[in-house]
Amino acid sequence: MATEMALVKHISKFSTSSPIFSNSRYGKFTTVRMSSTSQSTAKAAAKGGKKAAKTAIKETLLTPRFYTTDFDEMEALFNTEINKNLNQSEFEALLQEFKTDYNQTHFVRNKEFKEAADKIDGPLRQIFVEFLERSCTAEFSGFLLYKELGRRLKKTNPVVAEIFSLMSRDEARHAGFLNKGLSDFNLALDLGFLTKARKYTFFKPKFIFYATYLSEKIGYWRYITIYRHLKENPEYQCYPIFKYFENWCQDENRHGDFFSALLKAQPQFLNDWKAKLWSRFFCLSVYVTMYLNDCQRTAFYEGIGLDTKEFDMHVIIETNRTTARIFPAVLDVENPEFKRRLDKMVEINEQLLAVGETSDIPLVKNLKRIPLIAALASELLATYLMPPIESGSVDFAEFEPQLVY
Ligand SMILES: [Fe+2]
Ligand SMILES: [Fe+2]
Repeated sequence: MATEMALVKHISKFSTSSPIFSNSRYGKFTTVRMSSTSQSTAKAAAKGGKKAAKTAIKETLLTPRFYTTDFDEMEALFNTEINKNLNQSEFEALLQEFKTDYNQTHFVRNKEFKEAADKIDGPLRQIFVEFLERSCTAEFSGFLLYKELGRRLKKTNPVVAEIFSLMSRDEARHAGFLNKGLSDFNLALDLGFLTKARKYTFFKPKFIFYATYLSEKIGYWRYITIYRHLKENPEYQCYPIFKYFENWCQDENRHGDFFSALLKAQPQFLNDWKAKLWSRFFCLSVYVTMYLNDCQRTAFYEGIGLDTKEFDMHVIIETNRTTARIFPAVLDVENPEFKRRLDKMVEINEQLLAVGETSDIPLVKNLKRIPLIAALASELLATYLMPPIESGSVDFAEFEPQLVY
C-alpha cells in the first residue's frame, strides 16, 4: 500500500504472530513506537536497552493510519448466493496469479544496505529514517486489514479470502523489508505494539474499496517513478532499497487490480451519482494528503534528485488516468487550476505548521488556526467542485487487469 490524509490514509494491517515482526532480533537496537506520549517513549527506550531514548514518532493527521471495517457487511458482499455479479472465474484467475508469488525470492538483502546507511549522515539521515518508518507503517496497515479480511471471508468466499491472505503476505514482506532497513539505522518499529496501541479508523466497505484501490495504485506509481528516475540518475542511488522497487511495485499493481475486480463485482458502488461524488472525494483526499505530506519533506525527494512537486504531479496524473478506467468520475488533475489550488493548500498548511511552532498559549494558537483551517477547507471544497471528468464504464467491456510497465 501507499498514501493518505486527514481525509483518507494509507491502507493496511498485519498480525503480531508473523515472525517478520518479532522484535527480538533487534534487541540491541532502540525500538521506536508510534505514539505521542512520553511514557511510551520511555518504555521504548527501556525495551531497546540503550540509554538513548529515541523520540516517538509524532502522530499527526497526515500519519499513515490503520483501518477497520464492517466485516459482516463484507461477508454479505462476497456471498455468491446473494451477489450474482461475483465473477468467480475472474477471481480464480487472480488467485492463480497471486499463488505464483513472483516476488518470493525478491526481498533478499545484502551488505550494501548497512554500508550505504552508514554513509548517510546529517539531516538526510533523519529524513531517511522517517521515510522508512512511514512506509513501513503504511505497508503494515495493509497487512493488518488484508489479513483480517482473509480470515473473516474464509467461509463466505474462500477464493476471495485466499487472495486477501496472499496480499497480506505481500504487505508483510514489504513492511518487514522496510523494518530491516530501519535496522541499518539502528532502529526498529515495534509493530506488535502498534497493532495493539494505535487507533483504527473505521470505513464502511465501499469506502475501503475506493481508498484501498487508490492507495495501491498511487503506491505503484510512486515506486515505479522513483525506480525509473534512479535508474536514469544512478548518482542519486544512495540506499539500495530503491533498486527493489521495480518488482515491488508490481505487487501493488496486482493488489490494485484485485480491488478493481472487487469493485466490478459491486456495481452499486460505481454506477450512480453518489458513487461519482464519493469517487471524487476519495481522489481528492488521497492526492491532497500525498501532496501536503511530500511538500513537508522536500529534503527527502531532493536528496534523491527529484523535484517534489513535479514528482507528485506526475504520480497524481498517472494514478488518475489509471483510476479513470474504473471510477465513474475523477478529478480534472491535468487542469492547471488543480495544481494552483494544491500549491495554495501547501502554503496554508505551512502557516498552520508555523502556528504550532510558536510559543503562544494553546488558546491563542487555536484562535490563529481558525482562519487558516477555514481557508484550507475552502480550497478543498473549491477543488472538489471543479468540473470533474466522467469516466469508468459500467459494463467494463474493455477493462482487464494487466501489468503496467
Ligand atoms: Fe505493499
Ligand atoms: Fe499493496
